[in-house]
Amino acid sequence: MDKRPIGVFDSGLGGLTAVKELAALLPHEDIVYFGDTARVPYGPRSRDTLLKYAHEDIHFLVSKKVKLALAACGTISSIYPPKLAQKLPVSYLGVVEPTAKAAVAASRTGHIGIIGTRATIKSNSYANAILKLLPQAKLTSMACPLFVPVIEGGYIDRTNPITTTLAQEYLLPLVNEGIDTLILGCTHYPIIRDIIADVVGPDVVLIDSGRESALAARDLLSRQELLAERERAGRLSFYVSDSPDSFAEIGGLFLGSQLTGTCEQVSVG
Ligand code: DGL
Repeated sequence: MDKRPIGVFDSGLGGLTAVKELAALLPHEDIVYFGDTARVPYGPRSRDTLLKYAHEDIHFLVSKKVKLALAACGTISSIYPPKLAQKLPVSYLGVVEPTAKAAVAASRTGHIGIIGTRATIKSNSYANAILKLLPQAKLTSMACPLFVPVIEGGYIDRTNPITTTLAQEYLLPLVNEGIDTLILGCTHYPIIRDIIADVVGPDVVLIDSGRESALAARDLLSRQELLAERERAGRLSFYVSDSPDSFAEIGGLFLGSQLTGTCEQVSVG
């Protein structure tokens, strides 16, 4: 039993897709979330810059005495070396492996589409994880660099014409290639899941990296006997590196009224 909070981080709003699932799966756990909103987006950055950001984000969560640092960010998960993760003073989990595993389980034909940020697609992280599990898999990848700014800007309504046009531009080539499963490899993308589903149609199974990482976090905490096992409801504390205003507004829209907590600006650099 371990009453310390679960730490979750991302460049901005994306990791809230994992928080939403975690809060539903483990309603008695406290969660500390850090969104690096002053430096979002992470996707176009170099590996060295991303490693520096990862180090600072994790260090902040460790200072909040978390029991697990969940990188709810496809970009950081794609470049953060397992060797560094092993040296951390807390457990660490990324989104790539659990998401790849779910995609392999869901795919009927083995033709899996992968969408993510530029850094994620360039790293081949999801492709490598899938091929380890299913060497004969056929993979079609697409970087979708404009999704994150559009989502952070709040263009998330199901009928939004800008986001729908973007989704058609990015996703129809993958559908035409014949994918039967699509990995939403950036944790921001499940926020526009409805738009993506409308474009790819009902025959393509969507795999949500936020949800899969939350399921993996629950399994890891349970295996390591680190669940809080308390009666009261879990508390959520949000920290951001820029003004909390727009984060609270769009995050609130996405999370819905059932999830509330404090939101504070901090400096991690
Ligand atoms: N949500 C993140 C990811 O999963 C970061 C996207 C970004 O900041 O570019 O990749």
